[in-house]
Amino acid sequence: MNGFIKLLLATAVGVAVVGVAIHEVWPGSLASVVMKSEGVRAAVMALHNLLLVPGTQQEQEQEQPPPGVKKERIFTVEELARYDGREGNKGPYLALLGRVYNVKKGKKFYGTGGGYEFFSGRDGSRAFVTGDFTEEGLIDDISGLTSSDYIGLDEWTKFYESDYKYVGKVIGRFYNEKGEPTSYYYDVQRWISQAYNDKENENKEKKMFPPCNSEWAPESGTRVWCTTRSGGVGRDWVGVPRKLYNPGHSKPRCACVKDFGPPSHDPTRMPHDDNGDLDHPNLEEYPGCISDQPTCTFKED
Ligand code: HEM
Repeated sequence: MNGFIKLLLATAVGVAVVGVAIHEVWPGSLASVVMKSEGVRAAVMALHNLLLVPGTQQEQEQEQPPPGVKKERIFTVEELARYDGREGNKGPYLALLGRVYNVKKGKKFYGTGGGYEFFSGRDGSRAFVTGDFTEEGLIDDISGLTSSDYIGLDEWTKFYESDYKYVGKVIGRFYNEKGEPTSYYYDVQRWISQAYNDKENENKEKKMFPPCNSEWAPESGTRVWCTTRSGGVGRDWVGVPRKLYNPGHSKPRCACVKDFGPPSHDPTRMPHDDNGDLDHPNLEEYPGCISDQPTCTFKED
């Protein structure tokens, strides 16, 4: 096992232990604090993907509907609220994107005193990705989130679909009284598929223009440099650092650019200038740096 994988596993185990401890002693609250950072949000989603692989949870006894009872139930918000798993109440059930799941087998999380009890008896979809577990945060309005949040919501849906029993729909944002999808439901489908497209494009861009390594020191300023692994993109070329301006981003980022062979978008072009992607229009050289060197040090204005 190489060092990187060992480190990754050790980190995942460490975070898992901390996470379990958090859920035991400090339900939800720390999660909501750390989730304020966008980077942490992505890391937490990755962690949950490792921990909560759909279908791997131990199967426990599920409540089966009695014979003759309709498989799918349509809940009003008030009806669903009664399924919060509290003493004398039914459940716990929770809703995600309008779909209701019986989460009784996970009552250590969703039952009274559980680290995620606030999800029970309602649709708190937005909080699944924002980590805002306040009353204002536990809402079903999921507009204006980031691409990775929409992918996160889709992953949570896959998780509940496979690990818990689907029981029905809640009337409101996503479904009407007949359980039919609303126009908001179709918006959500669009946002999710757009998010996957964005992610695919980002991955393509990262492969073509891997991020540089960088460090900063007060006397010398910023140093950026490329290696065959910089930006976490393993490759058989090093590249040279350039500023990459992306539409929608106010600041450029440092990209390692392939400086030989044909351009990546036209790999079979013949003849070619043998300068790789250096002619890409969104690139700019760092002032004062030697253009064909993999390392560059400069002072920011
Ligand atoms: C947006 C923030 C978060 C949300 C919405 C969230 C949600 C959840 C949910 C719903 C479960 C139960 C899954 C099930 O039914 O099996 C869970 C489990 C877990 N979460 Fe979180 N969580 C968040 C943040 C965190 C953070 C920050 C950590 C770690 C520092 C963490 C670590 C864990 C661990 C280790 C488990 C599994 C515990 C076990 O299997 O006993 N979570 N999380």
